[in-house]
Amino acid sequence: MLNKKITDLLNSQINKEFYSSYLYLDMSNYYIEKNLNGFGNWFAIQAQEEYAHAMLFIKYILNNSEKVVLNDIASPNKHYKDFKHPLEGSLEHEISISASINAIYAEAYTLKDFRTMQFLDWFVKEQGEEEKNVDDLCKRYEMFGTDPRGLYLLDAELATRVFNAPTLVI
Ligand code: FEO
Repeated sequence: MLNKKITDLLNSQINKEFYSSYLYLDMSNYYIEKNLNGFGNWFAIQAQEEYAHAMLFIKYILNNSEKVVLNDIASPNKHYKDFKHPLEGSLEHEISISASINAIYAEAYTLKDFRTMQFLDWFVKEQGEEEKNVDDLCKRYEMFGTDPRGLYLLDAELATRVFNAPTLVI
């Protein structure tokens, strides 16, 4: 059993993870529409990762015999002004998700909910990696993406990314 406030925060995080998946799918579609299929692939895998994160939160709530609440997922409804725009948007988004995970962690700490803290440890680390990955991509785009040949090579590299399911045991 979990504290009600923790359960509510975890349920809210499920929605944020599904929204993240939706947002990255939207970004993937944008790049594919622009014939940058490698960028499209990179963001489609981001979307898969976010879906997997949502499923981990669902499993944790169910394993603790609490109720999962699936709320409406907002439309990303984004209009990207250039190729760099989604990259910057995804970094900003990951920073906000890190803050959200940290807020749940802080509440679990206050309540001495050590089980939830242990569950969230993986996400705290994962968020560090996610922020670094997207920040690296922003910087590499800055260096190479504004030159057509550089953009072509970067796109080809991003096309090789594959999805690896999280190995977290709950
Ligand atoms: Fe599930 Fe990118 O945070």
